[in-house]
Amino acid sequence: MSDTPLFKVTIDNITVEVPAGTTILQAARQVGGDVAPPAMCFYTPLEGSGGKCRTCLVEVSKGSEKDPRPMPKLVASCRTTVMDGMEVKNITSDRVQDARAGVVEFLLLNHPLDCPICDQAGECHLQDLGYEHGSSGTRYEFQRRTFEKHDLGKYIQLHMTRCILCYRCVFTAAQVTNSREHGVLDRGDHAQIATYIEKSLENDFIGNVIDVCPVGALTDKTFRFKNRVWFTKPVYASCDCDKCCGEVTLWMRGDEVFRVTARKDEWGEIKTSPKTGKTGWICNDCRFEKKKLSQWKVEGLADISRHSVIGQGKYPLLEKSNETISKVLDGRKPRLLMDIHSVSEVNRPEIDLSEINGPATSSIFKKQ
Ligand code: SF4
Ligand code: SF4
Ligand code: FES
Repeated sequence: MSDTPLFKVTIDNITVEVPAGTTILQAARQVGGDVAPPAMCFYTPLEGSGGKCRTCLVEVSKGSEKDPRPMPKLVASCRTTVMDGMEVKNITSDRVQDARAGVVEFLLLNHPLDCPICDQAGECHLQDLGYEHGSSGTRYEFQRRTFEKHDLGKYIQLHMTRCILCYRCVFTAAQVTNSREHGVLDRGDHAQIATYIEKSLENDFIGNVIDVCPVGALTDKTFRFKNRVWFTKPVYASCDCDKCCGEVTLWMRGDEVFRVTARKDEWGEIKTSPKTGKTGWICNDCRFEKKKLSQWKVEGLADISRHSVIGQGKYPLLEKSNETISKVLDGRKPRLLMDIHSVSEVNRPEIDLSEINGPATSSIFKKQ
């Protein structure tokens, strides 16, 4: 058994026990749901990540059992470790909500918000933050900074205008590939991801920068503008690859593979591979070159949050309930029953929605 002591921490009135050294963010993720603060720059598999974006700010209303004084300022939960007896407020703190709205306003100062044409739309954490905390107008009176799009080799495009300078791609290139050639050049509003990234593109694992980018700044040129993610269906698949774990998510439409990515967990972070026990980074060959279904062994539907737009409209295995209304109501008669079929063609009872050949319905998952 580990000798690490367990600390009790209460986050939004929910108490969990975590090993000493755990950050508030990781403790909050154990609680899960909305209690976990958003994190745009922290990325568990990347050492040294976090502390840049301030989206994960929380209020520490009690420092610890020994020193119960509250922390005067909001703290970055991804960089602050828990103390025994600590009490933290995230969604229960007006200060935090107010500060987060301010952070989102800053992140969007120069951001184009061109979600309708952005490949990241539908799986973009900034889009979610903008929806939850953003305001409909801007107070910014200056011209937004813009950049030319940049082709980074034959696979990746950098659209610096959308970059939020989270440094994740820099850490990925430094830690996952063996030759980091890029970084953030300059500071303040001149800061940008340096174009020396081109040089690191020869590396077999550089495609992972696309997966870690929380916005649509780094995009896969083999998928760019080909489809919207919510029209595709993610399935887990694997292959015998001599470079990486070969465990991927295929993004399919019908039987066509549109995109290949690493497998991600509910926080958008690349999962640990059960095969290697390490982070499941995938190589460029698997990501960009294997777009034929015959090159993969499909394992099943990918886990997608039920709140995600990607999960919408994909019900090929829908089981229809056989229960009648009187059975549901324990034999009682409904007091008012509205017949929506008379006003809505869409709900005509003879239409079996699972039979409709929707855009994301693959024959692999059709009912036997
Ligand atoms: S990066 Fe996200 S918020 Fe920005 S344009 Fe793309 S989808 Fe919209
Ligand atoms: S390109 Fe993406 S991953 Fe890299 S710093 Fe910008 S937002 Fe972060
Ligand atoms: S996730 Fe904590 S500062 Fe960015």
